[in-house]
Amino acid sequence: MSTSIFGKLPDGREVYQYRLKNASGMTVQIINYGAAITSILVPDRSGQFDDVVLGYDNLQGYINGTTYFGAIVGRYGNRIAKGSFQLDGKEYQLATNNGDNHLHGGKIGFNKVLWETRSFDAGSPEPSLQLQYVSRDGEEGYPGTVTLKVTYTLTARNELRVNYEGTTDKATILNPTQHSYFNLSGSLHNTILSHLLMIESEGFTPVDKGLIPTGEIAPVAGTPMDFRTATVIGARINDSYQQLVLGKGYDHNWVLKTPPGTVRKAADLYEPISGRAMEVFTDEPGVQFYTGNFLDGTVAGKNNIYYQQRTGLCLETQAFPDSPNKPQFPSTTLRSGQVYRQTTIYKFSTR
Ligand code: GLA
Repeated sequence: MSTSIFGKLPDGREVYQYRLKNASGMTVQIINYGAAITSILVPDRSGQFDDVVLGYDNLQGYINGTTYFGAIVGRYGNRIAKGSFQLDGKEYQLATNNGDNHLHGGKIGFNKVLWETRSFDAGSPEPSLQLQYVSRDGEEGYPGTVTLKVTYTLTARNELRVNYEGTTDKATILNPTQHSYFNLSGSLHNTILSHLLMIESEGFTPVDKGLIPTGEIAPVAGTPMDFRTATVIGARINDSYQQLVLGKGYDHNWVLKTPPGTVRKAADLYEPISGRAMEVFTDEPGVQFYTGNFLDGTVAGKNNIYYQQRTGLCLETQAFPDSPNKPQFPSTTLRSGQVYRQTTIYKFSTR
């Protein structure tokens, strides 16, 4: 069955799980709670299919979870200092849920709501699912009613394409992203430390102790943030470099080398034992590379595996953190009559 009931919310509404499968057998499952990807099955070098994302076995896990497994986060993915910003001369106060700061949309972000299913086509050679969420004016402190549509398409070339389209009835800010935690090894007992990563970036946005960007763009050259060529993630992660100490590992925004607006390669992830690779393409200005530093082995995920620190990594394509307070960063303002668009592609292969 390509649609099944995943669970029931406390208010009685049913949550569905949808399955996208292509001719080569790649399979992606998504639930309409949080628009979350619950599994991605892709082959290794020898053709063995394994799940390469973290998640939970049941809805209760997603309801209780604090780690955003697989979800679409928003309205604003990442942090806004003190949860406050000005827009058109007016001051807005958002919910603060990460110390003094706002993170990933607030207390009830897009990852904690039921999305409406707009279309589901399981039969096509490129199966797709479109989900929509309407976030009302004032929700978590944000101005304007925002309608966000997210379309997941599985192509015949083992690409998972995520298209975002957002509108508002009043000026607001919008910066959604996908928060899947990847581990290409085939076993979620392994960490991601032996994966190799390349990021198409020469600079990153250094942060303060609350992980808010200082506003500067620092060159990666000569630092453990340099992923211009494929590098083992664990090689430098425990260096005494101040930014890594502040992040408890990698938890930073890399500024992509070429300008936003056209889809180009952002990152390349490779796990040498399984041979699995994942390339990320996006039209966003940046990517948050996060190494699962806050996973601590206390929460049971799929198959009752307790995910240890660094079991998964995120590559969150986005505008830079705290952009609403950093006029020098690309703007995240969306006005009535404008359309927000993002395309991000995760392409799986083996080498
Ligand atoms: C993002 C943030 C991290 C952390 C995770 C979720 O990647 O940058 O600091 O909040 O989400 O745990």
